[in-house]
Amino acid sequence: MRVYFDNAATTPLDPIVIEAMTKVMQENFGNPSSIHREGRTSRSIIEKARKVIAKCINASIGEVFFTSGGTESSNMALKCSVRDLGVQRIITSQMEHHCVLHTVESLEKSDGVVVEYVNIDTCGRIDYDQLNSLLENSDKKTLVSLMHANNEIGTVMNMDKISEICQVHDALFHSDTVQTMGHFPIDVDKLKINFLTGAAHKFHGPKGVGFIYINGETQIKPYIDGGAQERNMRGGTENFYGIVGLAKALELAVEKMEEKHRHIDGLRQYLKNKLVENFEDIQFNGCQENYLYTVLSVSFPPHPKSDMMMLNLDISGISASGGSACSSGAEKGSHVLESIQATTDRKTIRFSFSHFNTKEEVDFLIEKLKSMIVTKKEVLA
Ligand SMILES: Cc1ncc(COP(=O)(O)O)c(C=O)c1O
Repeated sequence: MRVYFDNAATTPLDPIVIEAMTKVMQENFGNPSSIHREGRTSRSIIEKARKVIAKCINASIGEVFFTSGGTESSNMALKCSVRDLGVQRIITSQMEHHCVLHTVESLEKSDGVVVEYVNIDTCGRIDYDQLNSLLENSDKKTLVSLMHANNEIGTVMNMDKISEICQVHDALFHSDTVQTMGHFPIDVDKLKINFLTGAAHKFHGPKGVGFIYINGETQIKPYIDGGAQERNMRGGTENFYGIVGLAKALELAVEKMEEKHRHIDGLRQYLKNKLVENFEDIQFNGCQENYLYTVLSVSFPPHPKSDMMMLNLDISGISASGGSACSSGAEKGSHVLESIQATTDRKTIRFSFSHFNTKEEVDFLIEKLKSMIVTKKEVLA
């Protein structure tokens, strides 16, 4: 048996997505920029896909731009805000994905952008009052970049609250919504936001394709020069087949969102209960009230048996993700676990689920874990 519990890293393609992509691969090859029939057909397929994405997030068609994924979309939002919108200061958090953290660090060095980090508590919740006062106490044009849900520990931020604070202080708002796109309802018409991002491979679409939503009133200049594609914003022949897969995947995710949510959340809770029932001193990272239901970050007590856990899980047929808080600096630890001050001697594993997972797979995991970590029975013996 092979069990895949690493869906926050990437998800397997949905067979319906494969089918949709295969159809266009077989039937359409025209360059969407060509004006002949083959080209026009490809163009219309791309525009249909854009319409699907726009509908899924309640945006206008002209507000959706295809990119290569989450990393590019966030780079575009942050870099273009500084270059084109007069942003001089960025407020973010230490637990953002590197596509945001490394970009703001680079903007700090190259453009003298002031970067400030909002405080986060040990559950990964941001300090909204501090965000408010950071914005209150500066006249610099500011962009707030805060993720919707953290990919390692699953804490979900209050987007409405962040948006309200940004509006009061006339700050721009970008959110890395890569982990929540297709998993939580997102309505950009209600949520006042300038930029948000999506990556197809996190909701059973293909890798290397995603999109950025740019609010119609937020006018930036081209991010990639060299072609008029994506209404001049991103030159280069489009990832045609990827875009088809992206649209089909998001459509499916949004259509069946509640059903999938219920199933996946049930599995997450089942695993939580089983872990607590069977093993000593289990801790869960991240906020357990407002959480990303696809992610469960588990922290196991220090024990020689748990040292090689990730490797042993893989050998036993289970794929999950590691992650540890690092104290020595010798081994590169997780910046997210460090930012919530997680204890450095515990072993952290992120299990992340999709609707393709089952309870039987969770039972299989629990059985395998019994030979890797100390069970309650062993402690009592
Ligand atoms: C929160 C978050 N942001 C951004 C990314 C990067 O997305 P992509 O792989 O599409 O560049 C990831 C992927 O791991 C992620 O989890």
